[in-house]
Amino acid sequence: FRKDFIGNLAHELKTPLFNIQGFIMTLIEGGADDPEIRDKFLRKAEKNIDRMTGLLEDLDSIYKIESGGMNLDPHPTNIVELCRDIVDSLHKKADKSNITLSVSDQEEFTVICDVNKIEQVVSNLLVNSINYGNDGGHTRVKFFDMGEKVLIEVSDDGIGIKKKDLMRIYERFYRVDKSRSRNAGGSGLGLAIVKHIIESHGQNIHVRSTYGQGTTFSFTLQKVEQEVNNLT
Ligand SMILES: Nc1ncnc2c1ncn2[C@@H]1O[C@H](COP(=O)(O)OP(=O)(O)O)[C@@H](O)[C@H]1O
Ligand SMILES: [Mg+2]
Repeated sequence: FRKDFIGNLAHELKTPLFNIQGFIMTLIEGGADDPEIRDKFLRKAEKNIDRMTGLLEDLDSIYKIESGGMNLDPHPTNIVELCRDIVDSLHKKADKSNITLSVSDQEEFTVICDVNKIEQVVSNLLVNSINYGNDGGHTRVKFFDMGEKVLIEVSDDGIGIKKKDLMRIYERFYRVDKSRSRNAGGSGLGLAIVKHIIESHGQNIHVRSTYGQGTTFSFTLQKVEQEVNNLT
């Protein structure tokens, strides 16, 4: 398992590095003389560097999690407000793909969670819904009162996931469409990290999907009771 991981990782790092090398070679060999080519190749190189940076950041998260060192820092958090803030920060990216993000705000819920980690979870799920969405698509974040817990649901009307892939999406580096994922800047580690974070909160994550129609991820968080909430 570990050998596989290192093999995958070497491959994932090599691909953008070779791309960057190619772009630089082109520039050295005269491409830099043409301002248009120069700008185009520099931008391509930058995109590949972003990809490597993202991969290394995800790797850092995975390492911390899997070496048993995920220290949670739980606090009462308004989960609806947190989701609204994350959606706001992703509007530009969503607009580029012509995807609408919306957060249901019928009711506010206070949960106990590590804000930064849950932000990572929601942000990963939303970015996936953009990356694997269709032009003109819509992603909705909804909240359901389950008594002691709140169920948070992120559902899209994107490309969907076939049953045979659905069982494997939480595996490190597993992607249904490698080139679509890479092109979008994906590392293949996002959902592995998401699952670890939710489970370290003592909660569960669940996915259902219909190929060609869309995907819904849902996870729970522990609610803070109103009385406690007033004291904090
Ligand atoms: N909302 C979604 N709709 C369709 N496919 C998805 C969705 N979220 C994840 N996937 C599939 O699961 C794979 C793994 O997701 P993830 O771990 O976030 O890695 P990455 O996005 O970097 O490829 C993706 O490559 C994609 O094939
Ligand atoms: Mg992802």
